[in-house]
Amino acid sequence: MTMSGAVIRARGLVKHFGRGQSLVRAVDEVDLEVPEGQTLAVMGPSGCGKSTLLHLLGGLERPTAGEVWVAGRRIDTLSERALARMRRRSVGFVFQSFHLVEELSAAENVELPALLAGRSPREARRRAMLLLDRVGLAGRARHLPARLSGGQRQRVAIARALVNEPLVVLADEPTGNLDTAATLDVLRIFEELRAAGQTLVIVTHDERVAATADRLVSMRDGMFVDDTHLAAARPRGLGGLGGLLGLGD
Ligand SMILES: Nc1ncnc2c1ncn2[C@@H]1O[C@H](COP(=O)(O)OP(=O)(O)O)[C@@H](O)[C@H]1O
Ligand SMILES: [Mg+2]
Repeated sequence: MTMSGAVIRARGLVKHFGRGQSLVRAVDEVDLEVPEGQTLAVMGPSGCGKSTLLHLLGGLERPTAGEVWVAGRRIDTLSERALARMRRRSVGFVFQSFHLVEELSAAENVELPALLAGRSPREARRRAMLLLDRVGLAGRARHLPARLSGGQRQRVAIARALVNEPLVVLADEPTGNLDTAATLDVLRIFEELRAAGQTLVIVTHDERVAATADRLVSMRDGMFVDDTHLAAARPRGLGGLGGLLGLGD
């Protein structure tokens, strides 16, 4: 992938909000490499900088200082336009509150990023239907988000995050608004993605989610205070995500 094999690389990453007395060091000199295929869980108390870190890694926000590389390309210096294109093609975001477009059906939500990336309507729809099937929602394709449960909405959001076969999926407390049954559904999908070799960064408060990771980073006050590789003896599937999801080319 890159010379170091890292899908994501951050060097000396800093993000400050405010100034003077009200200066907040949300992310404070973080170095990070996420190798291809790794599932990284990030845990830490509320306000320690987890979401900010995720936004910096995915190009949703720009760092105050430091560098971010995605697939060997430096992104913190890109123009807004190039950054938007990079996000569309290379990053899939999953948020705690789903962020679905309420006026669009489940299928339309999933196909939207594919259309924005220039795929034909027919191909976008094909991908959306395959992915909805993969997350167990083939029968809900025409439903508006308002007619779906929280767990179903999050599964639609995961399908949407995958539609352009991103290099990395960045998930911010993806089970934070879900009950246990829905959490287990989402966990099973992440486990499948992990087995298929998808690179994943998951911010979570949930030990069950963290337990599915290859590596666990703990944050405090914008810094990494622990970085542990978990002894995951689970087998990994062969072939890429496209194979697993049947997206083809
Ligand atoms: N847009 C913002 N403006 C000002 N302060 C912010 C902003 N976003 C986050 N912060 C502050 O940065 C710190 C880290 O926030 P955040 O990354 O959301 O933490 P976490 O996701 O771990 O709860 C907090 O003190 C928060 O109040
Ligand atoms: Mg947060």
